[in-house]
This record gives sequence, C-alpha cells and structure tokens, in this order.
Amino acid sequence: MSQAAQVSVLALHLHGTHLGYLAGFAGGHNIVTFTPDYLHSQTRPTFTLTQLGKPDLLEKPWQTRQRLHPVLSNLLPEGALREWAAHQLKVHPDNEFPLFTWFGNDLPGALIVTPLEPEQVPAWALMRNKTQTAPVIVPVSHYGQRFSLAGVQMKFSGKHQDGRYHISQAGELGNWIIKTPSTLYPHVPANEYTCMTLAGLAGVNIPEIRLIPLAELDGLPNIQLPAETHAYAIRRFDRDDTDGRIHTEDFAQILQKYPHEKYRDSNYEMLGRILQQYSRDGIADLQQLARRLLVNILLGNGDAHLKNWTVFYPDQITVISNLPKYTYS
Ligand SMILES: Nc1ncnc2c1ncn2[C@@H]1O[C@H](COP(=O)(O)OP(=O)(O)O)[C@@H](O)[C@H]1O
Ligand SMILES: [Mg+2]
Repeated sequence: MSQAAQVSVLALHLHGTHLGYLAGFAGGHNIVTFTPDYLHSQTRPTFTLTQLGKPDLLEKPWQTRQRLHPVLSNLLPEGALREWAAHQLKVHPDNEFPLFTWFGNDLPGALIVTPLEPEQVPAWALMRNKTQTAPVIVPVSHYGQRFSLAGVQMKFSGKHQDGRYHISQAGELGNWIIKTPSTLYPHVPANEYTCMTLAGLAGVNIPEIRLIPLAELDGLPNIQLPAETHAYAIRRFDRDDTDGRIHTEDFAQILQKYPHEKYRDSNYEMLGRILQQYSRDGIADLQQLARRLLVNILLGNGDAHLKNWTVFYPDQITVISNLPKYTYS
C-alpha cells in the first residue's frame, strides 16, 4: 500500500471574500481550488483579469509542481529577497509553497493567505488525479513573517511616522517602498528619483516619490551598503494610509507568464488591447501607455518587461492602470 502524502493548506482571501484554498504537498505538488461561493457570486471581487477573458479558468483546480501558478508565483520576490527567505526557511528558492506561506500576510495587492488547521480543510480542496490514499493534513509552518515585494533590487516596505521611516517588521504593513543604494551601481536612488521626476513632468501619472537620508531609516536589517547617503522611496499604490489593501496585478500575472518569462512572448500592443477591452477608462489608460512608452525611449529605459506594468482594482471589481494624478507639493 502506498504511503499517505503529507499536505499543508492555506486559505486565500480577497477583501474579506474566501476565494479558495492552496494545498502544498510534501513532494512539491501544489493545487489551488476556488470555493463554490466565490465561483457563483455575482458581486465577487476580481482576483485576476485573466478570469474575465477565460470564464472557466477558475472552474478547474490549478495544479503545478514546485512553483505555484503564475498568478500566485508573481507575488513572490525574484532576486535577493527570495534568496534570503529561502535561506531562512532552509528550502530551495524554487520551492514556492513555503515561501508563499512565509510572505502570505503581506503580499503585493490585496490577496491574504492564512494557514488552516487540518479540520478546517474540505476534502475537495485536496483532489489529485489518481490519488489512492487520502493525504495527511499537517499544520502550516512559518506563517506570514515578512513582506513580499516583486522585482530584483533590494527593497523594503515601510511607513513614515514622526519624521522617520520605519521598515516594517513581522506582521506590520507598510505604505512606502524604500530602495536602498546598490553595492553594484553608483547612485541608483538618485537615478530612479530623477527618471521618475522627468516621467512625471512629461505627463506620466506617478505616485509620490522621495529621496530620503539613510539616517532617517529605522529597522534596516544588517545589509551591505555603499558609502552613499540617500535611499529612494515611492508611495505604494496597493496600500492606503489606514493599512487598507488595494488589489493589483502585473502583466505577467495577467498573461500567465512566470517571472523568468517576463521578456518573452508579448508586446505592448497586447497590453494596449487588454487595457482597451477591460479598463473602466480605456482611453486614459491607452494614453498613459503611449506616454510611458515614449518616456521609456527618451530615458533609455530598456527594462519595461511584463512585471513592470501593473493594473489595480480601486473598486475591487473593475481594472484601471492610470494612477490618480499626484500633485507635487
Ligand atoms: N509605487 C508602487 N506601489 C505598489 N507596488 C509597486 C510600486 N512600485 C513598484 N511596485 C511593485 O513592485 C515591483 C518591483 O518594483 P520595481 O520598481 O520594478 O523594482 P525593481 O527595480 O526591483 O524591478 C513592481 O513589479 C511592482 O509590482
Ligand atoms: Mg521592476
């Protein structure tokens, strides 16, 4: 008789709605299933834009090995932050279920992941093809201790309080992204601040940005820093001032590509068509897209891959990519 597989299960919630379950089997098999309530709700929050174009996307379980489905995989960091988390958890950086558990309380956008006790898991959330033996459900370990931010540069999530910036510790949400200077390239914060300011002046709607003295940063872990004085900060468009979460999605998620496929099989026309079809203000979004493309050419930005284009869901259901205009003070 074959031995029963071990599995841990997470619940997926979006704006208080229970979307479904993510089951992580010990052998690396992962399954996402959506709840009947979510599937049949007329007023459900939108989880991924892909579900609008593919009505049966959520009907069948999403089954993957090691990596999670791209809609979830893209919520995890790619570079140094992933390596660091994998090292802390003593898992392979491609083994995404434990990483997702570790980052689950503070993911980009509004998805929240919570661990479930064995008795809370319905049997249908564990359905696998050809499984003869019912799996043994074991509690989730290492839940929700860190923030996850996508991308490759070293960055932190934090808050600005009483004139200082506080890097979020376990369980605290931040509403600023703070990028520390790079040991590889000089003056990256000043460069990003300058490029974003120029983009703003050219009519790209950008979030509030700041250059902040490193001396005003609290809670920075012990990382190697060059002899520079400033970090770059940008206000998060997926968080508000009261720890509210706004759902977002990057175009790798929308097109169901993994982070390593972010430069492949897509073009800006595809992005434009998706915005035109689904955005609640398609014309404004297309104008912003065109403006951003022009600014990328003028600034020599050759890195506008799928993960550097994000949409958000301000009313929880419909999508938009253009940000509200930020007024410089
Ligand atoms: N202001 C912001 N608010 C919320 N999310 C953001 C913001 N800026 C960037 N992001 C998200 O963080 C990811 C990484 O940011 P990015 O500036 O592209 O970093 P990197 O230079 O490391 O690629 C982006 O892909 C996007 O999903
Ligand atoms: Mg990026």
